[in-house]
This record gives sequence, C-alpha cells and structure tokens, in this order.
Amino acid sequence: MEKDYLLSIQGVCKSFSGVQVLKDVCLDVRKGTVHSLMGENGAGKSTLMKCLFGIYRQDKGQFFLEGKEFNFTDPKHALENGVSMVHQELNQVLQRTVTDNIWLGRYPKGRLFVDEKKMYADTKALFDRLGMDVDPQITLNKLSVSQRQMVEIAKAVSYDAKIIVLDEPTSSLTENEVEKLFEIIRLLKSEGVGIVYISHKMEEIFEISDDVTVLRDGHYIGTEAIENLTMESIVNMMVGRDLEHRFPPRTNVPGEVHLSVRNLSTRYAPLIHDISFDLRRGEILGVAGLVGAGRTEMIEAIFGARTRRSGEILVDGKAIDNETPTQAIRNRFALLTEERRETGIYPVADITFNSTIANVNNYRNKAGFLVDRKMKEDTDVQIRNMRIKTPNRRELIRSLSGGNQQKVIIGRWLLTDPDILLLDEPTRGIDVGAKYEIYQLIIELASKGKSVIVVSSEMPELLGLTNRIMVMSNGYMAGIVNTEETTQTEIFHLASMHLTKSREVGA
Ligand SMILES: Nc1ncnc2c1ncn2[C@@H]1O[C@H](COP(=O)(O)OP(=O)(O)OP(=O)(O)O)[C@@H](O)[C@H]1O
Ligand SMILES: [Mg+2]
Repeated sequence: MEKDYLLSIQGVCKSFSGVQVLKDVCLDVRKGTVHSLMGENGAGKSTLMKCLFGIYRQDKGQFFLEGKEFNFTDPKHALENGVSMVHQELNQVLQRTVTDNIWLGRYPKGRLFVDEKKMYADTKALFDRLGMDVDPQITLNKLSVSQRQMVEIAKAVSYDAKIIVLDEPTSSLTENEVEKLFEIIRLLKSEGVGIVYISHKMEEIFEISDDVTVLRDGHYIGTEAIENLTMESIVNMMVGRDLEHRFPPRTNVPGEVHLSVRNLSTRYAPLIHDISFDLRRGEILGVAGLVGAGRTEMIEAIFGARTRRSGEILVDGKAIDNETPTQAIRNRFALLTEERRETGIYPVADITFNSTIANVNNYRNKAGFLVDRKMKEDTDVQIRNMRIKTPNRRELIRSLSGGNQQKVIIGRWLLTDPDILLLDEPTRGIDVGAKYEIYQLIIELASKGKSVIVVSSEMPELLGLTNRIMVMSNGYMAGIVNTEETTQTEIFHLASMHLTKSREVGA
C-alpha cells in the first residue's frame, strides 16, 4: 500500500531522555501535493521531520520513499536521496555570501578547485527560476531575516529533491514573499515534488494544502483532504476541543498620552525617516508594513538598539534618553525581538537562565550574589502562566519546541515589569491556542495601564488585537488608522505609498 505514496511514514515513536514525544505517528504524502502537518506547539511536528531527515533516530517505525524503505543516517544522506528540508530556525553562516551558503559542503573537490564562477552562475540560474531578486554575492548578514529565509528555501529547492519539508517557512516572510513562496510551491508540485508543509497560519493552510495531518501531544489524530476541513475542525483536531473565538474581547481602554515619539530618524541604513506618533496609556498600537518598511528598525531605535540621527522620546511628557537598551530597560521599556535565535535566546542555557537574564539585577541579594530560589520561583510562575510545555525549568531552551521558546522569551520581558512593551512579531510560530493566550496576556497588560506596540505581518492579528494601526512604508510613516474603521485594502494602500522613494536619501 505504501507504494502508492511518494513518502510513507509508519508507526514512528521517539523519546527524549524517557519522555515520549512521538507515539506511533503516520504520514502519507502523495506525489505532486502539499501535505500540511499541523498541531500545537510541542506536538512533535519538527521532531517527526527531523527523524525523517536523519537528524534524530526514531526508536520505532519505518520510512518509505516510493515504496522503498530507507533510514537516513544524517542530513547529507537524506539530501543525496531526494529529501530536503528548510528548518524552523535558520542556521546559516552569516559572514559568508549567499552563494557560499547555498553550496556549502556540496563542492567536495577541495578548496583550490572550487569553481566560483559556476557556483555563482548556478545560484543566479536558481534565483531566476524561482523569480528571486537577491544578489548571490552579498554576504548573508546584509540581508533581512526574510531574505535569508528565501535563500534557505532556494537552497532546499536546489537539491532537486522528491520531498521537500518546509518547517514554518513563512514565519518571517511578509505577504508578498509568501505569495512568491506559494508560486514556487506550485511550480514544484507541477514537477511532481511532494511537500510537507508545517505552519500555524490557517489562511496559508487553506490556500496551499491538498491534505492535512494533525498531531496532538505526539499522537497521530487524523488525515483529511483540505476540502473536507474547516478552520474550526482543524482547531478542534489540534486542541481536542472547540475554540470559539480567535481573539479575546478588547477590554483595554486607552487613556492619556503615555509615550510620544517625535521626528525619529536613524543614522545608519536601513533608514527610517522623521517618525512622530503618540501612544496612549493602555493602548495597543499595531505596526503594519511590507518587508523592509522599517518597522523593526523603528522599535529598535525607540529601544536604543539603533543609533538615532534625530528624534525625541517622551514618557508622560518628559524627555527621556533611551540611548542604549540598558537605559531603555531602566526606563521600563521592554523589547521582544523578531529573530529569537540571533538576539533572543541563549540556546545552551536552561529555561531559568533564559527567563531571568533580562532582569538579573533584581535577583541579587545585598552582597551581590544571585538568589537562586527567587529565580526558580519566578521561572516556575512563568512556565505555569504561559503554559510552557517542558518537563521542568532545568531543560535547555534549545530542546523546547519553537513556539515554547518564544513563550519563554515573552515571559522574560514580563518579569522585568515593563511599562511600555515593544513586541516584534510576538506570535510568530505560535499555535492558535497559545496565540489566544498571548493575545489575552497583551490585552490584560494593556488593561492594567501598560502600553503596547505590536509589529505584525499578520493582518488578522493587527485587525483583531489592536486599537490603532500605524502603517509604515519604505522607512516613512504612511499613516495611522483606527482599527475599528479601517480595512485591509486601506492598509495595503498605505503600505505601498512611499515605495517609489529612495531609502538612502534623507527626508
Ligand atoms: N532535542 C530534544 N531534547 C529533548 N526534548 C526535545 C528535543 N527536541 C524536541 N523535544 C521535545 O519534544 C516535543 C516536541 O517538540 P517539536 O519541536 O517536535 O514540536 P513542534 O510540533 O515542532 O512545535 P512548534 O510548533 O512549537 O514548532 C516538545 O515537548 C519538545 O520540548
Ligand atoms: Mg516545530
């Protein structure tokens, strides 16, 4: 029976140090289709794919490719046999060029004989075929997170695989790039490639999938053709109960002006120009924009993580400094970064360390020593409040699922008791149930008089969560709209307003 499928996974079990995270899981992928793998954070999706890809070895179970059983010993083995994968967390060599990153380890002829010209030409041809506009010679650290993600996707495609696993490929892409990715996926489908697609974004699942398989707590729940599914039925399979609303009621009531930003511009590219706005106490202000619009740069500039060319920041009408993140934290700002791997987590440290690091001075006793007990208590409270799925607080953060890592980082900033929260894509890679919890948390904080700025590429999230939405375009502020009165069309229109302007020339 497994002959009919391009890829067939049967009865896979996997434990980590005695904890079973996959229990008898199956998955069958048909040729030329997209098979979405869904489940809450920590359900076991990435682990299953890592068993397939030869990163982990399953305790039990079999893999068949076109009817033939195989068991990859490592990723290289998998790549050589027609299975490639884009990982949830980017793992690239930032100091090397795009071309190097794509061909790393694949030109086995020894350094002297690497054919640079061919590598460049092959990269160019690959990008052309995929309709990508990235310079193959640029070093990776000059690219935005989303461009780097596209490079990683192109790399996976370049292996001419029969099966491509995409583990949350769109987590850092904006709408335009997602469309581009979907074109690439359709092209691959037409060539007979099978795609395993992991995403928490429902809109995407319905746009791109043929079949959907759901895991819950490491168990196989079921597989259905997309035509037979609704968002509600998927959520029900994922969480085992109905989730009535996607967004909690907005109970926060914006008060007087809390934060004022005046004529904010940055000194170094990517530039932002002359941004002024007010944030009210208890308000949730969304920030929309296309990739490269300067949303991340703006909140980093407010937080002192980027050098300002001009601009004033006032809290309750009083000018404050925020020249460095340390000052900003002292002024009770908190910043949740977009790219948790790079600037957010300390992978080889445990949850306790990762939870308390931003606030470490609060845990010192009079002699200056850290009070372990208090750190542990607070960490346990966060694990409970945020429902972080982990055996205990001593786990290394890198062994948590992606979404649960994100929750640890949010918890970290909440422990600093901030007044003004700057959240960059706070629910990226987080499942629907946990998203609801995070929305609830944000609304609760706002109701208590904290003020929140949320950068998001998910339109439903901006429309469902915020009071007002600032739209950025090419480094400029294109406008601020009331969430209740605006439409998606208006926001898109604003987002493309300054696209013809050059970013490098000052305002
Ligand atoms: N190397 C590891 N060591 C110990 N536990 C691990 C390891 N890798 C994963 N786990 C655990 O296995 C479970 C499944 O994790 P996995 O990463 O597969 O979840 P996921 O479905 O991909 O979630 P997400 O949507 O958050 O990415 C989690 O409880 C996680 O903590
Ligand atoms: Mg995962």
